[in-house]
Amino acid sequence: GPTLEMRRGERVRFHIDNNLAEGATVHWHGFELPASADGGPHQLICPGERWSPSFEVRQRASLYWYHSHLHRRAGSQVYAGLAAPIYVRDDQEERLGLPSEYGIDDIPLIVQDRIIDGSGQLIYPSGMQARMMGVRGNRIYVNGTEDAVFDAATGQLRLRLLNGSNARFYDFSLEGGAPMQLIASDGGLLDRPHPVRSLRLAPGERAQIILDLAEGRPLRLVASSPDNMMGMMGGQGRGMMGGGMMGRGNDGDPSDGVFRILDIRPADTARSVRLPAELAPLGVPDPSLAVRTRRFVIDMGMMGGGMSINGAAMDMDVINERVPVGQWEIWEIANASMMAHPFHIHNTQFRVIERNGRAPPPLETGYKDTVVVNPREQVRVLVRFEENTDPDLPYMYHCHILEHEDAGMMGQFVVMNS
Ligand code: C2O
Ligand code: CU
Ligand code: CU
Repeated sequence: GPTLEMRRGERVRFHIDNNLAEGATVHWHGFELPASADGGPHQLICPGERWSPSFEVRQRASLYWYHSHLHRRAGSQVYAGLAAPIYVRDDQEERLGLPSEYGIDDIPLIVQDRIIDGSGQLIYPSGMQARMMGVRGNRIYVNGTEDAVFDAATGQLRLRLLNGSNARFYDFSLEGGAPMQLIASDGGLLDRPHPVRSLRLAPGERAQIILDLAEGRPLRLVASSPDNMMGMMGGQGRGMMGGGMMGRGNDGDPSDGVFRILDIRPADTARSVRLPAELAPLGVPDPSLAVRTRRFVIDMGMMGGGMSINGAAMDMDVINERVPVGQWEIWEIANASMMAHPFHIHNTQFRVIERNGRAPPPLETGYKDTVVVNPREQVRVLVRFEENTDPDLPYMYHCHILEHEDAGMMGQFVVMNS
């Protein structure tokens, strides 16, 4: 889909016509907005109908995205193409003078994997393996392109990465291991640039990096794909499931391969530019603000037969949580399964306080709307819903592996007047 660009503080209105033969929804991932404009499973657009949501852009400048959130069909609709990036800009970020010319020194990289058959048809597998592990393709597309190349004209290049895949996790790095400057997470700029050599993004997560091209040598951004089963994600080596009947990947999935994401060809005239030493004053999240803790336990059941949160599968007619507006809370997310899950919460940008009792890594020190919870881990986040109350119409929290979401690993909450 087309890239959208918005400015913080402006009011936007969309007309979305559904010309498909099936229902669809369009969700604004990462946005704080009224539940009626959220585009979740309750904002169904029937075939032939138009949906015209309107909302004020309250987000910090960052990369967000929009995608299908149709109940039980988000996986197949995103896979078929109903997903695209959103740039949000604001004054605070513009004052820093970071590269921000779209397509010149600031480009989005929407990374997705697909299975294409011999006749060029998109294949969306629906077998047990695909439902349990999520659908993972053996071919990687960046902004819909295979083997993408970018001719840079400047000495500094800003890449806005979005893992828009249904289920695959990626570890991004530069071939040869050169450092990249990490400047932003899901909800905008970090406190300062953090040099990193690799960067893991799960489905739904974003990050922004700045590359220095002043040396004039070509760079290659690559990604390997960690197996998101127990043992691999935690870094403790192959776990008990390795080679077991749950197997690895599906449909020719090369979990061990290294994918080429982007080849960057610098210009001879590129000059080095200094990054600001400080980006955004984030402050340290203060868990003592929280007046209560809610616990969420993610599980898959036997062989993926019981995708659930707190023992229940998604039910459109059940409100699982009622959250008072403006109240700081700790959401404690625990993973009882053997696989890592990216947990996403609508209508907020939260802060990660701790992961298994330890402070979060650089990518998780800023604002987030999606956070990975590894097997047997517990992640605590500090969250608040600042406005947009509606006693009846819920928002979602869910696993962003879309096949898990579709199979019920999702719950609903309303934001109420306190
Ligand atoms: Cu990106 Cu509820 O979704
Ligand atoms: Cu969302
Ligand atoms: Cu999951």
